Amino acid sequence: TWIDTGTDPSFFGPEDANRKVVLGTEGGIPSLWIIVGPPLQELTRKLQKLVGVTPRPPLWSLGYHQCRWEYKGEKHLKWLNDHMVKHKTPNDGLWLDIDYMEGYRVFTYDKDAFPEGPEKTCAKYAALGRKVVPIIDPGVKLEPGNPVYEDGLKKNVFCLTPEGKPYVGFVWPGETVFPDFSKPEARTWWAGYAKSFKALGFGGAWVDMNDPSTGAVDPYAMLFRDGTLPHGAFRNQYALGMQMATRDGFQQASPNERIFILSRSGYTGTSRFAAIWTGDNVSNRWYLKGTIPTTLNLSLSGIPFNGPDVGWCMNDTNEELMIDWVKSGFLFPFFRNHSGGSHRRQEPWTFSDQGLHIITWYTSLRYMLMPYLYQLFVQQERDGDPILRPVQYHYAGGEIPDDVFLVGESILQAPVLEESGHRQLDLPAGQWFDARWGKWVSGHLEAVCGPFATPLYF
Ligand code: GLC
Repeated sequence: TWIDTGTDPSFFGPEDANRKVVLGTEGGIPSLWIIVGPPLQELTRKLQKLVGVTPRPPLWSLGYHQCRWEYKGEKHLKWLNDHMVKHKTPNDGLWLDIDYMEGYRVFTYDKDAFPEGPEKTCAKYAALGRKVVPIIDPGVKLEPGNPVYEDGLKKNVFCLTPEGKPYVGFVWPGETVFPDFSKPEARTWWAGYAKSFKALGFGGAWVDMNDPSTGAVDPYAMLFRDGTLPHGAFRNQYALGMQMATRDGFQQASPNERIFILSRSGYTGTSRFAAIWTGDNVSNRWYLKGTIPTTLNLSLSGIPFNGPDVGWCMNDTNEELMIDWVKSGFLFPFFRNHSGGSHRRQEPWTFSDQGLHIITWYTSLRYMLMPYLYQLFVQQERDGDPILRPVQYHYAGGEIPDDVFLVGESILQAPVLEESGHRQLDLPAGQWFDARWGKWVSGHLEAVCGPFATPLYF
């Protein structure tokens, strides 16, 4: 399905500007819902109620998360924990990327990396207040003897080609087949494995590559529902199916727990099952600037629990950029530091003493504001209001740039995204409390940004 609001000249003449929207599909007829406002709050709430609100997440999922494409087991977890204790880094989540698996086979773990077994390791860190969160990819290694593969073949749960054979892509483990999440029996099958996996003691799940990413193999031969649904008919919902099945399995394993799933892709309704992070960004200012409108747009589009990787990935970060990223994103609904293993380390203590101090200071400030943040999730569950909001959500008038945003109704942030260290700002009407200097301010401001002074108003 696609929508064009004015970019394609073959649909739009100059007289059509702002008057026409063109909707299309590759096949079938789209279901069209028209939600009526204004105001913006009404639209957002109605949309959120229609697609489903995000159930109250576990408190730990709102904490600071530490990840890197490298961490694989006890050795890294211990290293992280030791440094966090030493440097007083508040943290609730330690994340394991694909290397924790045995040859990237889904629902396995590398026995050498967990000498005591994951149950003991996870319990040890949980007792210290840190949940261990593993990545789970949908691709199942095609390999005789791989129990998940053989079981899935027997139960006929994989996507098929037009010839009726399992569709084979090429992802981390090499040749891979893909669960067909459009089939309820495939979701039940996957949930069974997810249940056993959660029972190993993991806190939540990080479901990735569910766009679905099939490697350098044409995805269009990947059919759904026993070969009766063309690729395009279910592609966009694939991640949703994976989220539903994973959440179901985790919930079965821990019926009294609030479940947390983080996903790369999503669809209408994802809000009920998973949080979204915005995928592989690059450590540069262009991405940093793009982060705020992206996060705001997701928030207004039915995905209230979301956030970017802070710092990441396809580039070496540097201290100044990392600090600006943390200062901009420390109150985003989801807050995770993630980086690629071949790039500069970016755990807080790998920067200078001052850098470490600043990052820890803002992370701690998030924890100080946690009751407020958590209350916003409660309000979201009740009324459908997102966590992050554009200023216009509550305050009328004036030209507000899209890198100024609200966290709930009462916190306004205007991060400095350029290296220059200051910006001009028109505050919405009324008195605001400047959290940097501890004084009441109003109107037009010159917002200066020092190491501990990101423009932040209450
Ligand atoms: C994908 C994910 C990224 C992860 C990598 C390895 O690129 O988006 O976050 O680190 O795969 O699993």
